[in-house]
Amino acid sequence: ADDGYRLWLRYERITDPAVRTAYNKTFSFIAVSDTSDISHNAAKELQAGIGAMTGKHIPIVKTMPKSGRGIRLSLSGATDVTAVKADSYVISLEGGNVVIKSAGNTGLLYGSFALLRHLQQHLPIEKAVSQSKPKIQLRMLNHWDNPEGTIERGYAGSSLWKWYELPETVDPRYTDYARANASIGINGTVVNNVNASARFLTAEYLHKVAALAGVFRKYGIKTYLSIHFAAPKTLGGLKTSDPLDPEVRKWWMEKTKEVYSIIPDFGGFLVKANSEGEPGPQDYGRTHADGANMLAEALAPFNGVVIWRAFVYKADPNADRFKAAYDEFASLDGKFAKNVIVQVKNGPIDFQPREPFSPLFGNMPKTPLGMEFQLTQEYLGFATHWVYEAPIFKECLDADTYVKGKGSTVASIVDGSLHNYPLTCMAGVANTGSDRSWTGHPMAQANWYAFGRLAWDHTLSAQAIAREWAQLTLTTQPKPVAAITDIMLRSRDIYVDYNTPLGLSRPWTGAHYAPEPWQNRSSRPDWTAIYYHRADSLGLGFDRTATGSNALQQYRPEVTRAWANPETCPLPYLLWFHHISWSQKLSSGRTLWDELCHRFYTGAESVVWMQKQWASVQSSIDPTLHADVTGRLLKQHKEAIWWRDAWMLYLQTFSKQAIPAIYRRPERT
Ligand code: GCU
Repeated sequence: ADDGYRLWLRYERITDPAVRTAYNKTFSFIAVSDTSDISHNAAKELQAGIGAMTGKHIPIVKTMPKSGRGIRLSLSGATDVTAVKADSYVISLEGGNVVIKSAGNTGLLYGSFALLRHLQQHLPIEKAVSQSKPKIQLRMLNHWDNPEGTIERGYAGSSLWKWYELPETVDPRYTDYARANASIGINGTVVNNVNASARFLTAEYLHKVAALAGVFRKYGIKTYLSIHFAAPKTLGGLKTSDPLDPEVRKWWMEKTKEVYSIIPDFGGFLVKANSEGEPGPQDYGRTHADGANMLAEALAPFNGVVIWRAFVYKADPNADRFKAAYDEFASLDGKFAKNVIVQVKNGPIDFQPREPFSPLFGNMPKTPLGMEFQLTQEYLGFATHWVYEAPIFKECLDADTYVKGKGSTVASIVDGSLHNYPLTCMAGVANTGSDRSWTGHPMAQANWYAFGRLAWDHTLSAQAIAREWAQLTLTTQPKPVAAITDIMLRSRDIYVDYNTPLGLSRPWTGAHYAPEPWQNRSSRPDWTAIYYHRADSLGLGFDRTATGSNALQQYRPEVTRAWANPETCPLPYLLWFHHISWSQKLSSGRTLWDELCHRFYTGAESVVWMQKQWASVQSSIDPTLHADVTGRLLKQHKEAIWWRDAWMLYLQTFSKQAIPAIYRRPERT
């Protein structure tokens, strides 16, 4: 039975005799002269992958045999290559051999995985001829993992990192984790939570982290740590953690030196500061730039980077949280040291099922802005609801900021092309854990996969990635692949329709799972649900136009214009920007109330469609896996109805309108 452990690296035996014969003829050796661990692992993966698919043992050799055909991994002798060059590869056919060339051994690794992807789809060998280079330099996972093994917002078991066993015991699973990441181009991992324990900077933990780094490095992955800004005080015993204090600066320099003495290729620090109660430079009247630059100074001698998060907002009932990151960061543009990246969540609030893009993108031309996406489904039904996230990522990346005229997409900012950023970064908050299937919901593996593929090349379509993933992971039969791809592509809109349609957001309290749109009490006013949806007897939605918080002003006029008029604002964003009266006619021809009913009801009903589609592919899918997903879809349907009814009944207390008769029929559960 397939428990999902092998992810998209299943390498199933090819049953089609024509394909197998062709592959058998072409692959009788893997020649690699470079002796680095990374090149060796590239060859080993080809050997294991093609071996499993064809049933043939393929020897790894140093020099090209005189006869027979095979694969050659060819490292160009170029020195002083950029990181992007080293990761790029060319696949060609030379005298019947498949040749993978790169200026770096990481390029050989990525080229090998690209070839394997191709073969896993049973495509003709000639069609493997290609070249590729990553659009983003730092393609990273951010793990929100704690030192005692729990994961903040993790829904797939506990941490993959067995801190209590490390460094003496090195779980072989770390290698599989690294293989999975390398196969989709991920080259960095932050192993601990942004709400960071200072403990990770102790020698005890650094040696544990070093053991992980020792595994990851052999797959081209650098290791990073989230740091606790007040560590000089809590760990170092200093009186302050003021970033302008010479003792504090010295402490960080020494600590950083120690980190590099234990992990020589350490990547750098990720920092959550002055956000949700975490300490930071503002505790001492300093700016985010002061804090980041202090760490940048300590990391610079080792070519390390600081990734400073822009996820900030204040507990002010009269402020609009939407505006907070822009208000705190935009004016600091140009003030950050060269090795600092400011990491921005895709939307201005917090990974909601649908958000407009963060207005920070485009407004810090002198500061490399990194993208932070969330793979773990904190607001997307945890590991119970099936939501394919590539459409969320694409929607943001393809959004036009207009900062340098039409075509100034968020992607062109993050990939550095628009503002010539010297550093580029895309991070995904990981959805992995100790579950056998890695991600809890087996279909959520696609979100990890899609993230990696998009960090490498953001021009890929959500559909192409879905199809590719399904073929690698589930089945190569065209019909079920099409049916599964169809579910995946519609899954996000279905979720939005029964969860937060028309631009509603954040109907949750702490756990972010159960519907609580009525929730109006919290330690912070901006942690209530009513702060976000603003339902009242007149209508629903947050007025962010000039008559309200005017957050729309943070965008360029072209964007503002598209969203500022409630008559023309696209429905998915309507309640993000407008307070709409219950009986107002929308562009759909329905009133707001009727449109809400329509979305909640058709959304919940569409889960039944997902169930039917999934049932239709049963004969092509491993029975264990199929049953697992079937169970989750049953739960998802129940919960979609739960969401629908919770919202509808609550909103009805304001709208005082009936639910149209067409929706009031007996429920199928
Ligand atoms: C969300 C999430 C927190 C997390 C925070 C962050 O608010 O609920 O658990 O720490 O984002 O990104 O820093």
